[in-house]
Amino acid sequence: MSNRLCYVCEGGDCTEMGSGDLFDKLRDLVKEFDPDEERIKIRRYPCFGACEHGVNVTLYPDKVFYSEVTEDDIPSIAAHIKGEGEAPEHLTGKCEPDVEEIIWDMLDSPY
Ligand code: FES
Repeated sequence: MSNRLCYVCEGGDCTEMGSGDLFDKLRDLVKEFDPDEERIKIRRYPCFGACEHGVNVTLYPDKVFYSEVTEDDIPSIAAHIKGEGEAPEHLTGKCEPDVEEIIWDMLDSPY
């Protein structure tokens, strides 16, 4: 089983911005190439603390923090997860670097 993880925020602000639908769409697209989650798991995450830049989606251990994600961005995120392209540039580098670091530190630590 893969340890690669993609989290879609399910906090209040991101939910208001439609993260539930985005999660379903992303999971469905990724399932087409990885039906048994052998390469990546797509999961919800309570809140990344970057609520003003929602919807937030992270890719770990790649350490890619996608922000202000909309439905239109889901195909390019799915392609990036599949290794078919770069992280869409307009979605990265929006949240404070220290917020990103906290998230990566948390995901790095065993729990
Ligand atoms: S609600 Fe999504 S980052 Fe806080």
